[in-house]
Amino acid sequence: MIKPDAVAAGNSGSILKMMEAAGFEIVAMKLTSLSSKLAGKFYEVHKGKPFYNGLVEFMSSGPIVALVLKKENAVLDFRTLIGSTNPTNAEEGTIRKIFAKSLEQNAVHGSDSAENAAIESSFFFSMLEMKLEN
Ligand code: CMP
Repeated sequence: MIKPDAVAAGNSGSILKMMEAAGFEIVAMKLTSLSSKLAGKFYEVHKGKPFYNGLVEFMSSGPIVALVLKKENAVLDFRTLIGSTNPTNAEEGTIRKIFAKSLEQNAVHGSDSAENAAIESSFFFSMLEMKLEN
């Protein structure tokens, strides 16, 4: 997902270019926005943490770009491409190092496992949109 800070700053195109240059194929993509209820659901695993309410408010503050990306070793390679959650610690040349504003407003989200990638993809896209229909 390209988060509201990066979309608002006009960085979606540059971020998509970095994803493609790193060998990710775009399987599905949409510009949409999350209500606070849906943002809360997406990040339900963080409910109760001190940053949860702020995160939900931020994630529902403007448009996001949802994506399903395909690549061998996609989960790990995408995490390498985006860099650490906190941009201060992110490696040079990573998406978060270049585009993130803060620990919360960190430009992009990536799934942390293949299992969560499947859950998070179906949060945004139908089987048909993911070209998974038989
Ligand atoms: P993300 O990879 O989308 O996963 C959870 C998000 O919560 C994270 O990126 C940040 O946007 C946000 N986040 C994680 N830790 C903190 C924190 N300590 N303070 C504020 N936001 C955080």
